[in-house]
Amino acid sequence: MLAFTVYFHISTSEHRSFSNERTSNRAVLFTESIPGWFYLIFVVFFLFRGIIWASSSGNNVGYHPIDMLIYDAQSQYDAYLRDAAAGTTLDQAVENYRKRYSRYPPPGFDHWYRYATERDTVIIDSYDSIHRDLVPFWSLSPEEVRYRTKQLLQNPWHNATGISVRDGKAATSTRVVDDHWSTMSSLVDMISAFSEWLPDMDLAFNINNEGRIAVPWETQARKPQKAEAAGEVSAPRPQFSTNRAAQWEPLPNYNTEEQKMQDLGWQSIFHSHGSAHCPPGSPAREQRNWDRGSLCSSCAAPHSMGLFPANWTELSDVCHQPDLAELHGFYNSPSAFRTSYELLPLFSQSKAPGFDDIL
Ligand SMILES: *[C@@H]1O[C@H](CO)[C@@H](O)[C@H](O)[C@H]1NC(C)=O
Ligand SMILES: *[C@@H]1O[C@H](CO)[C@@H](O)[C@H](O)[C@H]1NC(C)=O
Repeated sequence: MLAFTVYFHISTSEHRSFSNERTSNRAVLFTESIPGWFYLIFVVFFLFRGIIWASSSGNNVGYHPIDMLIYDAQSQYDAYLRDAAAGTTLDQAVENYRKRYSRYPPPGFDHWYRYATERDTVIIDSYDSIHRDLVPFWSLSPEEVRYRTKQLLQNPWHNATGISVRDGKAATSTRVVDDHWSTMSSLVDMISAFSEWLPDMDLAFNINNEGRIAVPWETQARKPQKAEAAGEVSAPRPQFSTNRAAQWEPLPNYNTEEQKMQDLGWQSIFHSHGSAHCPPGSPAREQRNWDRGSLCSSCAAPHSMGLFPANWTELSDVCHQPDLAELHGFYNSPSAFRTSYELLPLFSQSKAPGFDDIL
């Protein structure tokens, strides 16, 4: 616009000198009368444009959302690192643990601390994930945890393999299916590296890839409070209790009659199990996404900035995303899914959000 004004000014001046030469009075009158009203129109026009631009610029983003998301992620990551290794001595690490998780760390924490610091581990104070997985089990008595482990392991149909730790040595305790021999032996090797510090116990490992324990919201809701209460009163324990081996019943002691699980392989499991942990009234439990041909934008809105996923915590919360029922193969048609609504102590390699397997 400005360039056009300048051009017009120059061309009228040229015209003027040209007309002077021709000494045409009418032409001089015409060209000299232009600047006054014409420039005024331009000024008014620019003011008008300026006002429109200023009032609408609130809707435009002057930066790319990715730049902002990268900036946010970097500052969160820095904050996490500062938070994850706040303690510089064992005593501080114990104190941080107690503050964060309302209980003292388990016996043998000093061995872990030494192991981690000798290897310059940057994460010393953060146990959120394992804490979240284990909290529900504080609502069960130790006898009950042992009993449920045995129930899982005594029927091979459950697709779980046992690992026992006795006198500081780890070994498989039930029959291992051929396909899973290498997985189980690497697991035993991994545990053997620190098994001298472990108490005697049996563990049940899920040999399928899918997570399987889906405790519904209605039962889980009461558990955290109970668990936190148990944590607050627990005093630090320097040692594990003794004579533990006798408390575990001998394995294997197969009983193929009792099935603690349901087989739902190749079926749609989102509404029955995938969203079972969601609160009543949440979209995942209430809504069905019938229109499979188009994007459910209300399902994506809570975790998005424009078109981009913005918040990973929100993104991995399935409770506002009923559209996942048809979007993810695990929810749509898991190839293996022997599952339970009961809180069973099963260690798994992976799980979908909200499942209660121990990772
Ligand atoms: C799970 O158990 C069934 C029946 O016992 C068996 O046929 C299947 O091979 C097992 N799955 C795996 C992954 O081993
Ligand atoms: C992501 O969502 C979680 C849960 O709603 C919230 O606590 C957290 O502050 C959010 N993070 C960002 C960067 O907005």
